Amino acid sequence: MSAAEAQTAAQRLVDIRRQLHQQPELSGEEYETTEAIKRWLTEAGIRIVDYGLPTGVIAEIGGKPGREGAHGADNAKTQVEHGLPIVALRADIDALPIEEETGLPYASKVKGKMHACGHDFHTAALLGAAFALKGREKELPGIVRLLFQPAEEKAKGAQQLIRSGALEGVDAIFGIHNKPDLPVGTIGVRSGPFMAAADGFIVEVAGVGTHAAAPETGIDPIVTASHIITALQTIVSRNVSALDQAVISVTRLHAGSAWNVISDKAVFDGTIRTFTEEVRQTVRQRFEQVASGVAAAFGTTAAVKWLEGPPAVVNDARWATFASRIAKTQALTVVEPALSPAGEDFSFYLQQTAGAFLFVGTDGPQQWHHPAFELDEAALPGTAGLLAGLAGEALRELAAKR
Ligand code: NI
Repeated sequence: MSAAEAQTAAQRLVDIRRQLHQQPELSGEEYETTEAIKRWLTEAGIRIVDYGLPTGVIAEIGGKPGREGAHGADNAKTQVEHGLPIVALRADIDALPIEEETGLPYASKVKGKMHACGHDFHTAALLGAAFALKGREKELPGIVRLLFQPAEEKAKGAQQLIRSGALEGVDAIFGIHNKPDLPVGTIGVRSGPFMAAADGFIVEVAGVGTHAAAPETGIDPIVTASHIITALQTIVSRNVSALDQAVISVTRLHAGSAWNVISDKAVFDGTIRTFTEEVRQTVRQRFEQVASGVAAAFGTTAAVKWLEGPPAVVNDARWATFASRIAKTQALTVVEPALSPAGEDFSFYLQQTAGAFLFVGTDGPQQWHHPAFELDEAALPGTAGLLAGLAGEALRELAAKR
């Protein structure tokens, strides 16, 4: 590719990203985004495969000749039977219910909605990879399956795609997330645990309402909830090894209606972040023991309801090492970032299929989900190139072993 061609290709990705940025759609409502992605893929001659998804797009590059124009999951299964390796690349496509405050000329045109996690960047980068891979489709020793996934922010989309059969026959999967505190040209990769399991909880403490002047005639749920919340803080310090990590945050507490009435219940909720299934189970078990035990000490009960989040993102050692090697061959700087306490539903794919999730430096002023979140679009061509390289090289390695 000449310098002029490379510049045109890079500008195209910037245009795509800005178009997506102006029209953000929330989780599960990505209808326009879905149509736009399909249009860009179709224009590039890339085949879209119908998995019956209301939003989100699955497309494929490579495979047996004569397959053009044939659609449907059955067709994909035929390819699997022919023994071709399949590598999946995933980008999430949804936005957040946040009012944008960047003041950019291409800021969100939709009130109260914003691509504040950079999923517009991920989508544009995956399209860039798709265009590049399409250009060398005949050389691909297998199939690249492109997953444009909806509803990541609600941790629903990955499971939806898995249920649709999108991972069938997939030998390896790769995904990326922009990282505001890494410079452009830097990739963050880790083997093993990488991002947290993000569970939520709601605890309802039962009380017996009464006059505030005569607390002995009731049970005060506020005092009980306060003791439970304080005791919960000991789980991380007393039950989790110093070599492991966990976070418990109580973020909301509701009780009472008047200054002179003891309430009949108190409700609090929050989140737990852990990095291994073992610690996740330990923390949850201790959480329930502390809640019910402390409540019992105050003569009442506490009901714990779990809001099951995505499990921890755990990268496969082989593919994490592979990704780091490919990044280096593309003159990208590779670092091992700290564990991220954020959740990511890519973890569901990694429970089914080997693969790796990577951070891509985008040098932004704010962290994810901030109303002034921004990223440096200069990272787009490198990210697209990395995704294309990961898919192409992984297919080559997989095909060589068959
Ligand atoms: Ni995100």
